[in-house]
Amino acid sequence: MLYGIDIFSGAGGLSIGAEMAGVQIMFAVEKDKYAAETYRFNHKDIPVICEDIHNIDPLQYIKPIEEQDQLIVFGGPPCQGFSTSNTVTRNMQNPNNSLFEEFVRFVATLKPEWFLFENVEGFYRFEKGSVRDKVKSCFEELGYTVNDKIVVASDYGVPQHRHRFIMIGNRHGILYQFPKKHKKVYTVKDAISDLPNLSNGQMDETLPYTYSIKKVSEYAKLMRKGSKFSQQNYVSKNADYVIERYKHIGQGQNWKAIPETLMTNYKDRNNCHSGIYKRLQADKPSVVISNYRKNMLIHPSQNRGLSVREAARLQSFPDFFIFKGSLSHIQQQIGNAVPPLLAKAVFQQIIQQTEKHEQG
Ligand SMILES: C[S@@+](CC[C@H](N)C(=O)[O-])C[C@H]1O[C@@H](n2cnc3c(N)ncnc32)[C@H](O)[C@@H]1O
Repeated sequence: MLYGIDIFSGAGGLSIGAEMAGVQIMFAVEKDKYAAETYRFNHKDIPVICEDIHNIDPLQYIKPIEEQDQLIVFGGPPCQGFSTSNTVTRNMQNPNNSLFEEFVRFVATLKPEWFLFENVEGFYRFEKGSVRDKVKSCFEELGYTVNDKIVVASDYGVPQHRHRFIMIGNRHGILYQFPKKHKKVYTVKDAISDLPNLSNGQMDETLPYTYSIKKVSEYAKLMRKGSKFSQQNYVSKNADYVIERYKHIGQGQNWKAIPETLMTNYKDRNNCHSGIYKRLQADKPSVVISNYRKNMLIHPSQNRGLSVREAARLQSFPDFFIFKGSLSHIQQQIGNAVPPLLAKAVFQQIIQQTEKHEQG
Protein backbone atom coordinates (compact mmCIF):
# COMPACT_ATOMS: atom_id res chain seq x y z
CA MET A 1 0.00 0.00 0.00
CA LEU A 2 1.19 3.49 -0.84
CA TYR A 3 0.07 6.29 1.52
CA GLY A 4 -0.15 9.88 0.34
CA ILE A 5 -0.10 13.46 1.63
CA ASP A 6 -1.56 16.08 -0.72
CA ILE A 7 -0.19 19.58 -0.10
CA PHE A 8 -1.67 22.63 -1.88
CA SER A 9 -4.48 20.20 -2.59
CA GLY A 10 -7.02 22.62 -4.11
CA ALA A 11 -10.25 20.78 -4.88
CA GLY A 12 -8.25 17.56 -5.08
CA GLY A 13 -7.66 16.70 -8.76
CA LEU A 14 -4.32 15.05 -7.95
CA SER A 15 -5.86 13.18 -5.01
CA ILE A 16 -8.74 11.77 -7.05
CA GLY A 17 -6.25 10.40 -9.60
CA ALA A 18 -4.01 9.04 -6.82
CA GLU A 19 -6.97 7.27 -5.25
CA MET A 20 -8.02 5.81 -8.61
CA ALA A 21 -4.53 4.33 -8.84
CA GLY A 22 -4.81 2.86 -5.32
CA VAL A 23 -3.04 5.42 -3.10
CA GLN A 24 -4.54 5.93 0.37
CA ILE A 25 -4.48 9.62 1.28
CA MET A 26 -3.64 10.42 4.91
CA PHE A 27 -4.33 14.16 4.92
CA ALA A 28 -4.45 17.24 2.70
CA VAL A 29 -3.31 20.84 3.21
CA GLU A 30 -5.16 23.73 1.55
CA LYS A 31 -5.52 27.30 2.75
CA ASP A 32 -8.52 28.38 0.65
CA LYS A 33 -11.68 27.61 2.59
CA TYR A 34 -13.87 26.83 -0.44
CA ALA A 35 -11.34 24.52 -2.08
CA ALA A 36 -10.89 22.79 1.31
CA GLU A 37 -14.67 22.44 1.57
CA THR A 38 -14.78 20.82 -1.87
CA TYR A 39 -11.99 18.45 -0.88
CA ARG A 40 -13.76 17.50 2.38
CA PHE A 41 -17.12 16.99 0.71
CA ASN A 42 -15.65 14.53 -1.76
CA HIS A 43 -13.31 12.76 0.69
CA LYS A 44 -15.33 12.42 3.84
CA ASP A 45 -12.72 10.28 5.63
CA ILE A 46 -9.66 12.39 4.89
CA PRO A 47 -8.63 15.23 7.25
CA VAL A 48 -8.08 18.54 5.43
CA ILE A 49 -5.94 21.11 7.22
CA CYS A 50 -7.28 24.45 6.06
CA GLU A 51 -4.36 26.72 6.88
CA ASP A 52 -1.34 28.45 5.43
CA ILE A 53 1.27 25.73 4.91
CA HIS A 54 3.98 27.89 6.50
CA ASN A 55 2.29 27.27 9.88
CA ILE A 56 2.14 23.51 9.57
CA ASP A 57 4.52 21.01 11.07
CA PRO A 58 3.79 17.79 9.17
CA LEU A 59 5.05 15.68 12.07
CA GLN A 60 2.04 16.86 14.05
CA TYR A 61 -0.23 15.02 11.65
CA ILE A 62 1.68 11.88 10.85
CA LYS A 63 3.56 9.67 13.28
CA PRO A 64 7.24 9.62 12.40
CA ILE A 65 7.58 6.21 10.84
CA GLU A 66 11.20 5.03 10.82
CA GLU A 67 12.04 6.02 7.25
CA GLN A 68 8.61 6.89 5.95
CA ASP A 69 8.54 3.99 3.56
CA GLN A 70 5.36 3.58 1.54
CA LEU A 71 4.72 7.31 1.67
CA ILE A 72 4.38 9.83 -1.15
CA VAL A 73 4.23 13.58 -0.64
CA PHE A 74 2.64 15.28 -3.64
CA GLY A 75 1.35 18.67 -4.67
CA GLY A 76 1.41 21.65 -6.94
CA PRO A 77 2.42 24.90 -5.20
CA PRO A 78 0.68 27.89 -6.83
CA CYS A 79 2.13 28.62 -10.13
CA GLN A 80 1.14 32.13 -11.19
CA GLY A 81 4.75 33.21 -10.87
CA PHE A 82 5.93 30.64 -13.40
CA SER A 83 3.13 30.72 -15.91
CA THR A 84 4.33 31.79 -19.37
CA SER A 85 1.09 33.74 -19.78
CA ASN A 86 2.01 35.96 -16.84
CA THR A 87 4.93 38.13 -17.91
CA VAL A 88 4.46 40.90 -15.35
CA THR A 89 5.01 38.89 -12.19
CA ARG A 90 7.10 36.10 -13.66
CA ASN A 91 10.25 36.40 -11.64
CA MET A 92 11.78 34.99 -8.49
CA GLN A 93 10.56 37.94 -6.41
CA ASN A 94 7.01 36.69 -6.77
CA PRO A 95 6.18 35.57 -3.22
CA ASN A 96 4.20 32.63 -4.62
CA ASN A 97 7.41 31.14 -5.92
CA SER A 98 8.76 30.69 -2.40
CA LEU A 99 5.99 28.18 -1.82
CA PHE A 100 7.99 25.49 -3.53
CA GLU A 101 10.42 25.84 -0.61
CA GLU A 102 7.53 24.73 1.60
CA PHE A 103 7.18 21.68 -0.60
CA VAL A 104 10.87 20.94 -0.11
CA ARG A 105 10.47 21.41 3.65
CA PHE A 106 7.75 18.74 3.75
CA VAL A 107 9.93 16.31 1.82
CA ALA A 108 13.02 17.06 3.93
CA THR A 109 11.04 16.60 7.17
CA LEU A 110 9.07 13.50 6.25
CA LYS A 111 11.62 11.75 4.01
CA PRO A 112 8.91 9.95 2.05
CA GLU A 113 9.76 7.10 -0.29
CA TRP A 114 8.44 9.17 -3.21
CA PHE A 115 7.59 12.78 -3.94
CA LEU A 116 5.67 14.23 -6.85
CA PHE A 117 6.02 17.93 -7.57
CA GLU A 118 3.66 19.39 -10.14
CA ASN A 119 3.65 22.78 -11.79
CA VAL A 120 2.87 24.79 -14.88
CA GLU A 121 4.71 24.07 -18.09
CA GLY A 122 6.59 27.40 -17.72
CA PHE A 123 8.41 26.03 -14.68
CA TYR A 124 10.66 24.03 -17.00
CA ARG A 125 12.01 27.08 -18.81
CA PHE A 126 11.81 29.60 -15.99
CA GLU A 127 15.06 31.61 -15.81
CA LYS A 128 16.43 29.52 -18.68
CA GLY A 129 15.87 26.28 -16.76
CA SER A 130 17.99 27.31 -13.79
CA VAL A 131 15.07 27.14 -11.33
CA ARG A 132 14.26 23.62 -12.45
CA ASP A 133 17.94 22.64 -12.12
CA LYS A 134 18.07 24.13 -8.62
CA VAL A 135 14.93 22.32 -7.50
CA LYS A 136 16.21 19.07 -8.99
CA SER A 137 19.60 19.27 -7.29
CA CYS A 138 17.95 20.23 -4.02
CA PHE A 139 16.00 16.94 -4.08
CA GLU A 140 19.10 15.04 -5.19
CA GLU A 141 20.98 16.41 -2.18
CA LEU A 142 18.19 15.03 0.00
CA GLY A 143 18.99 11.60 -1.44
CA TYR A 144 16.38 11.33 -4.19
CA THR A 145 16.74 9.94 -7.68
CA VAL A 146 14.80 12.42 -9.80
CA ASN A 147 13.17 12.49 -13.19
CA ASP A 148 10.96 15.19 -14.72
CA LYS A 149 8.97 15.86 -17.83
CA ILE A 150 6.34 18.05 -19.41
CA VAL A 151 3.35 15.76 -19.81
CA VAL A 152 0.36 16.33 -22.08
CA ALA A 153 -3.01 15.45 -20.57
CA SER A 154 -4.54 14.33 -23.90
CA ASP A 155 -1.92 11.54 -24.04
CA TYR A 156 -3.55 9.99 -20.98
CA GLY A 157 -7.23 9.88 -21.86
CA VAL A 158 -8.07 13.49 -20.89
CA PRO A 159 -10.06 15.33 -23.61
CA GLN A 160 -7.92 18.45 -23.24
CA HIS A 161 -4.67 19.74 -24.63
CA ARG A 162 -3.06 20.68 -21.29
CA HIS A 163 0.66 20.61 -20.52
CA ARG A 164 1.98 20.20 -16.97
CA PHE A 165 5.47 19.97 -15.55
CA ILE A 166 5.96 16.97 -13.27
CA MET A 167 9.04 16.09 -11.22
CA ILE A 168 9.12 12.75 -9.39
CA GLY A 169 11.76 11.43 -7.02
CA ASN A 170 12.43 8.18 -5.17
CA ARG A 171 14.60 7.61 -2.12
CA HIS A 172 15.61 4.04 -3.00
CA GLY A 173 17.32 4.82 -6.28
CA ILE A 174 14.36 4.08 -8.56
CA LEU A 175 14.39 6.30 -11.64
CA TYR A 176 10.75 7.05 -12.41
CA GLN A 177 9.68 6.25 -15.97
CA PHE A 178 6.81 8.37 -17.25
CA PRO A 179 3.84 6.30 -18.47
CA LYS A 180 3.38 5.47 -22.14
CA LYS A 181 0.78 7.43 -24.10
CA HIS A 182 -2.71 5.97 -24.37
CA LYS A 183 -3.73 4.97 -27.87
CA LYS A 184 -7.07 6.75 -27.83
CA VAL A 185 -7.35 10.55 -27.89
CA TYR A 186 -10.75 11.80 -26.69
CA THR A 187 -12.48 14.85 -28.13
CA VAL A 188 -14.79 17.54 -26.77
CA LYS A 189 -17.70 15.66 -28.39
CA ASP A 190 -16.74 12.43 -26.59
CA ALA A 191 -16.52 14.38 -23.37
CA ILE A 192 -19.67 16.52 -23.19
CA SER A 193 -22.25 15.66 -25.88
CA ASP A 194 -24.46 13.67 -23.49
CA LEU A 195 -24.73 16.62 -21.07
CA PRO A 196 -27.94 18.71 -21.04
CA ASN A 197 -28.62 21.59 -23.43
CA LEU A 198 -28.41 24.78 -21.41
CA SER A 199 -28.94 28.49 -21.90
CA ASN A 200 -26.91 31.52 -20.93
CA GLY A 201 -27.06 31.98 -17.14
CA GLN A 202 -28.88 28.69 -16.44
CA MET A 203 -28.29 27.39 -12.89
CA ASP A 204 -29.80 23.92 -12.57
CA GLU A 205 -28.56 21.69 -9.80
CA THR A 206 -29.70 18.41 -11.38
CA LEU A 207 -30.85 17.56 -14.91
CA PRO A 208 -31.21 14.31 -16.85
CA TYR A 209 -28.45 13.29 -19.24
CA THR A 210 -29.36 13.82 -22.90
CA TYR A 211 -28.51 10.26 -23.99
CA SER A 212 -28.85 6.92 -22.30
CA ILE A 213 -25.60 5.32 -21.21
CA LYS A 214 -25.74 2.83 -24.09
CA LYS A 215 -25.42 5.63 -26.64
CA VAL A 216 -22.47 7.52 -25.20
CA SER A 217 -18.70 7.42 -25.73
CA GLU A 218 -16.41 5.22 -23.62
CA TYR A 219 -15.19 8.42 -22.00
CA ALA A 220 -18.69 9.59 -20.98
CA LYS A 221 -19.45 6.09 -19.65
CA LEU A 222 -16.40 6.33 -17.43
CA MET A 223 -17.37 9.79 -16.18
CA ARG A 224 -20.98 8.72 -15.47
CA LYS A 225 -20.03 5.75 -13.30
CA GLY A 226 -21.92 6.17 -10.04
CA SER A 227 -24.10 9.10 -11.26
CA LYS A 228 -27.70 9.02 -12.47
CA PHE A 229 -28.01 12.69 -13.34
CA SER A 230 -25.93 15.58 -14.55
CA GLN A 231 -25.21 17.80 -11.53
CA GLN A 232 -24.04 21.41 -11.21
CA ASN A 233 -25.30 22.58 -14.59
CA TYR A 234 -24.26 26.14 -13.85
CA VAL A 235 -23.49 28.60 -16.66
CA SER A 236 -22.20 32.13 -16.00
CA LYS A 237 -24.58 34.82 -17.18
CA ASN A 238 -23.06 36.84 -19.98
CA ALA A 239 -24.44 40.19 -21.15
CA ASP A 240 -26.55 40.13 -24.33
CA TYR A 241 -23.84 41.90 -26.35
CA VAL A 242 -21.38 39.13 -25.40
CA ILE A 243 -23.81 36.46 -26.61
CA GLU A 244 -24.18 38.45 -29.86
CA ARG A 245 -20.42 38.19 -30.30
CA TYR A 246 -20.49 34.43 -29.65
CA LYS A 247 -22.85 33.97 -32.59
CA HIS A 248 -20.14 35.05 -35.03
CA ILE A 249 -17.50 32.62 -33.78
CA GLY A 250 -17.24 29.21 -35.42
CA GLN A 251 -15.67 26.13 -33.86
CA GLY A 252 -11.95 26.63 -33.29
CA GLN A 253 -12.23 30.39 -33.94
CA ASN A 254 -11.60 33.15 -31.39
CA TRP A 255 -12.29 36.87 -30.89
CA LYS A 256 -10.84 37.62 -34.35
CA ALA A 257 -14.04 36.31 -35.94
CA ILE A 258 -16.14 38.96 -34.17
CA PRO A 259 -17.10 41.89 -36.47
CA GLU A 260 -15.30 45.08 -35.53
CA THR A 261 -18.62 46.88 -35.01
CA LEU A 262 -19.40 44.55 -32.08
CA MET A 263 -16.05 45.14 -30.38
CA THR A 264 -16.17 48.89 -29.88
CA ASN A 265 -15.51 48.66 -26.11
CA TYR A 266 -12.03 47.22 -26.75
CA LYS A 267 -9.59 50.15 -27.10
CA ASP A 268 -7.09 47.93 -28.83
CA ARG A 269 -8.51 44.71 -30.21
CA ASN A 270 -5.03 43.44 -30.94
CA ASN A 271 -4.33 43.29 -27.23
CA CYS A 272 -6.70 40.32 -26.93
CA HIS A 273 -4.87 37.03 -26.61
CA SER A 274 -5.73 34.11 -28.86
CA GLY A 275 -7.39 32.13 -26.04
CA ILE A 276 -10.11 34.71 -25.48
CA TYR A 277 -13.63 34.17 -26.89
CA LYS A 278 -12.63 30.75 -28.12
CA ARG A 279 -15.24 28.30 -29.33
CA LEU A 280 -14.30 24.71 -28.64
CA GLN A 281 -13.91 22.34 -31.55
CA ALA A 282 -16.11 19.26 -31.17
CA ASP A 283 -13.78 16.83 -32.95
CA LYS A 284 -10.59 17.77 -31.05
CA PRO A 285 -9.45 17.73 -27.43
CA SER A 286 -10.37 20.98 -25.71
CA VAL A 287 -7.97 23.90 -25.33
CA VAL A 288 -6.73 24.46 -21.77
CA ILE A 289 -9.43 24.80 -19.14
CA SER A 290 -7.89 27.47 -16.94
CA ASN A 291 -10.34 30.01 -15.63
CA TYR A 292 -12.76 29.30 -18.45
CA ARG A 293 -15.15 32.13 -17.60
CA LYS A 294 -12.46 34.82 -17.72
CA ASN A 295 -11.19 33.35 -21.01
CA MET A 296 -14.75 33.04 -22.29
CA LEU A 297 -14.59 29.54 -23.69
CA ILE A 298 -17.70 28.89 -25.75
CA HIS A 299 -19.68 25.66 -26.06
CA PRO A 300 -19.07 24.01 -29.48
CA SER A 301 -22.68 24.26 -30.67
CA GLN A 302 -24.61 26.43 -28.16
CA ASN A 303 -24.16 30.21 -27.82
CA ARG A 304 -23.07 30.30 -24.17
CA GLY A 305 -20.11 29.66 -21.89
CA LEU A 306 -19.29 26.22 -20.49
CA SER A 307 -21.20 24.81 -17.55
CA VAL A 308 -19.45 23.63 -14.39
CA ARG A 309 -20.18 20.01 -15.33
CA GLU A 310 -18.81 20.45 -18.86
CA ALA A 311 -15.60 22.02 -17.60
CA ALA A 312 -15.29 19.27 -14.96
CA ARG A 313 -15.74 16.63 -17.69
CA LEU A 314 -13.04 18.26 -19.83
CA GLN A 315 -10.76 18.04 -16.79
CA SER A 316 -11.80 14.36 -16.26
CA PHE A 317 -13.45 14.86 -12.85
CA PRO A 318 -16.04 12.09 -12.49
CA ASP A 319 -19.67 13.26 -12.47
CA PHE A 320 -20.13 12.34 -8.80
CA PHE A 321 -17.53 14.97 -7.85
CA ILE A 322 -19.23 18.08 -6.40
CA PHE A 323 -17.60 21.51 -6.15
CA LYS A 324 -18.28 23.93 -3.30
CA GLY A 325 -18.23 27.75 -3.12
CA SER A 326 -19.61 30.42 -5.42
CA LEU A 327 -19.60 29.91 -9.18
CA SER A 328 -16.38 31.89 -9.59
CA HIS A 329 -14.68 29.88 -6.80
CA ILE A 330 -15.75 26.67 -8.50
CA GLN A 331 -14.44 27.84 -11.87
CA GLN A 332 -11.09 28.63 -10.25
CA GLN A 333 -10.90 25.23 -8.51
CA ILE A 334 -11.60 23.40 -11.78
CA GLY A 335 -9.07 25.47 -13.72
CA ASN A 336 -6.39 24.95 -11.04
CA ALA A 337 -6.69 21.19 -10.95
CA VAL A 338 -4.49 18.47 -12.34
CA PRO A 339 -6.79 16.31 -14.47
CA PRO A 340 -7.53 13.21 -12.38
CA LEU A 341 -6.94 10.82 -15.30
CA LEU A 342 -3.51 12.29 -15.93
CA ALA A 343 -2.73 11.93 -12.21
CA LYS A 344 -4.05 8.36 -12.23
CA ALA A 345 -1.67 7.34 -15.06
CA VAL A 346 1.31 8.92 -13.30
CA PHE A 347 0.51 7.32 -9.90
CA GLN A 348 -0.17 3.90 -11.42
CA GLN A 349 3.34 3.94 -12.81
CA ILE A 350 4.74 4.85 -9.38
CA ILE A 351 2.93 1.88 -7.84
CA GLN A 352 4.06 -0.50 -10.57
CA GLN A 353 7.69 0.54 -10.26
CA THR A 354 7.54 0.22 -6.46
CA GLU A 355 6.15 -3.30 -6.74
CA LYS A 356 8.75 -4.29 -9.30
CA HIS A 357 11.52 -2.92 -7.07
CA GLU A 358 10.17 -4.78 -4.02
CA GLN A 359 10.06 -8.04 -5.95
CA GLY A 360 13.72 -7.40 -6.77
C1 LIG B 1 -2.63 24.91 -8.44
S1 LIG B 1 -3.69 24.75 -7.06
C2 LIG B 1 -3.58 23.04 -6.71
C3 LIG B 1 -4.46 22.16 -7.54
C4 LIG B 1 -4.50 20.73 -7.07
N1 LIG B 1 -3.22 20.07 -7.11
C5 LIG B 1 -5.52 19.91 -7.86
O1 LIG B 1 -5.10 18.99 -8.57
O2 LIG B 1 -6.73 20.15 -7.74
C6 LIG B 1 -2.73 25.44 -5.75
C7 LIG B 1 -3.47 25.54 -4.41
O3 LIG B 1 -2.54 25.97 -3.39
C8 LIG B 1 -3.29 26.71 -2.43
N2 LIG B 1 -2.36 27.54 -1.63
C9 LIG B 1 -1.77 28.70 -2.01
N3 LIG B 1 -0.96 29.17 -1.05
C10 LIG B 1 -1.04 28.30 -0.02
C11 LIG B 1 -0.47 28.27 1.28
N4 LIG B 1 0.37 29.24 1.67
N5 LIG B 1 -0.79 27.25 2.10
C12 LIG B 1 -1.64 26.28 1.68
N6 LIG B 1 -2.23 26.26 0.47
C13 LIG B 1 -1.95 27.27 -0.38
C14 LIG B 1 -4.22 27.53 -3.28
O4 LIG B 1 -5.34 27.98 -2.52
C15 LIG B 1 -4.59 26.55 -4.40
O5 LIG B 1 -5.81 25.89 -4.12
